[in-house]
Amino acid sequence: MLHKEIILIIDFGSQFTQLITRRVREAKVYSEIYPHTISIDFIKKLNPKGIILSGGPMSVYDEDAPSISSEIFSLNVPILGICYGLQFISKEMGGVVEKSFEREYGRSIFKIEKESVLTKNLPHQSIVWMSHGDIVKEAPVGFNIIGISDHSPVCAIENTEKKIYGLQFHPEVYHTEKGEQIIKNFLYDICGCEGDWTSKHFINSSVEEIKNQVGNSKVICALSGGVDSTVAAVLVKRAIGDNLHCIHIDTGLMRKNESQQIENLFNSQLDLNVKYVNASNTFLERLKDISDPEQKRKIIGNTFIEIFETEARKIEGVEYLVQGTLYPDVIESVSVKGKSATIKTHHNVGGLPEKMNLKLIEPFRELFKDEVRNVGRELGIPEEFIMRHPFPGPGLAVRILGPVTEERVKILQEADDIFISELKKENLYNKIWQAFAVLLPVQSVGVMGDARTYENVLALRAVTSVDGMTADWYNFEGKFLAKVSNLIINKVAGVNRVVYDISSKPPSTIEWE
Ligand code: XMP
Repeated sequence: MLHKEIILIIDFGSQFTQLITRRVREAKVYSEIYPHTISIDFIKKLNPKGIILSGGPMSVYDEDAPSISSEIFSLNVPILGICYGLQFISKEMGGVVEKSFEREYGRSIFKIEKESVLTKNLPHQSIVWMSHGDIVKEAPVGFNIIGISDHSPVCAIENTEKKIYGLQFHPEVYHTEKGEQIIKNFLYDICGCEGDWTSKHFINSSVEEIKNQVGNSKVICALSGGVDSTVAAVLVKRAIGDNLHCIHIDTGLMRKNESQQIENLFNSQLDLNVKYVNASNTFLERLKDISDPEQKRKIIGNTFIEIFETEARKIEGVEYLVQGTLYPDVIESVSVKGKSATIKTHHNVGGLPEKMNLKLIEPFRELFKDEVRNVGRELGIPEEFIMRHPFPGPGLAVRILGPVTEERVKILQEADDIFISELKKENLYNKIWQAFAVLLPVQSVGVMGDARTYENVLALRAVTSVDGMTADWYNFEGKFLAKVSNLIINKVAGVNRVVYDISSKPPSTIEWE
């Protein structure tokens, strides 16, 4: 997509680089991340309104310290260096960077030393978040020190003539009190951005772009019932109307009643042209006696492709396939001394485009999940649907440890439904990234009435997370867990024990398989 204004984020390997991009976009300015290895020519072509140099795990004096040509400082484009970015600017422009005796991690107090546009509307002192070993000891010639902290004598610098700025702390993390204001000051007062990045703008430009790309050709979409594919389908439908053909394959591995709810939403509220294929028997047959998680994934993936392909071939003249690929799947990772940001790609219909010789439409290649949700809201998709927890492609099969049978799917669906309904009743659902039940391949002894039972153990999992890459278990009140456990054991035949999973990711993963 062509963007009128763009902020370029140069990645030096910081764990916060994606956060910088998100904060800039939240301030309504489009931004993209590129590795520090990009060329100056590429930057010139991109024609950014401003450049942000990210933090990074290394010292500027390390042998393989990441860098970029110093020509970047002569492009006449405003630059903001953050942490390693500040140290890089300082070193390149003749300042002094050295190891700090007092490493600063976490909370620190930032004090303004000299008025600056970058710190406009900030109080004299505010809390900031630090994470660094090196400090700038002397600012380069031509730079003013505009702020200090307890351990950083050069915590914020500016060169107003060259429009180059630097911060030792991280304005992009939520713990930095005035981070949002600082980023806005940079974007609007220093780079002169107008702020045209909104869902409405995205929808209008995407609709135009898809219309031009597709013309009168036909497009197919595998509607899984997840947020990304649904929002993508509604967007493409707005661009090309009935030339969009959706296929929903019911694997029988969805949450309780989910297939009916999805069908209802697609037909009556979103007016999508959907072909429903109930393939639950095929999936169950092929999963018979399979316990290995990766084998389950493979079987489900291949079966899905096979059925989708058969159905798609029934529609004549299809040239394109819609996929809900998101920006985090696309960003090139920066590898710093073997440490690289691992980026997860879940292509649920992977391999299809090449096999069927289809061209791809990926309207969300530039978006984060929360931006897709906003686009969905703007397109009139109901809030309850938009805020649904993520659900893995292989569905309940990876939440039934051991072999998957119809009976075990039913047990899990019932228990999961009780857990989720209680979360909604107690207004906890939207505070949690993902919550679900897991059926274990373990039986335990219980007593019900006067009789001994020997039945299944069920685990409950609920985690908070921003992107699914790291996660922490949710600390429920005991009362809530007791209620859910009671309800499940009393109502779901086949379960006589409920346990709660208190593992974070890492070292555990969110799903059990
Ligand atoms: P893990 O279990 O790796 O999960 O911590 C991270 C996120 O990815 C989802 N997940 C999957 N999604 N196909 C998918 O489409 C898969 O095979 C798959 N495995 C895990 C998981 O639900 C969580 O949101």
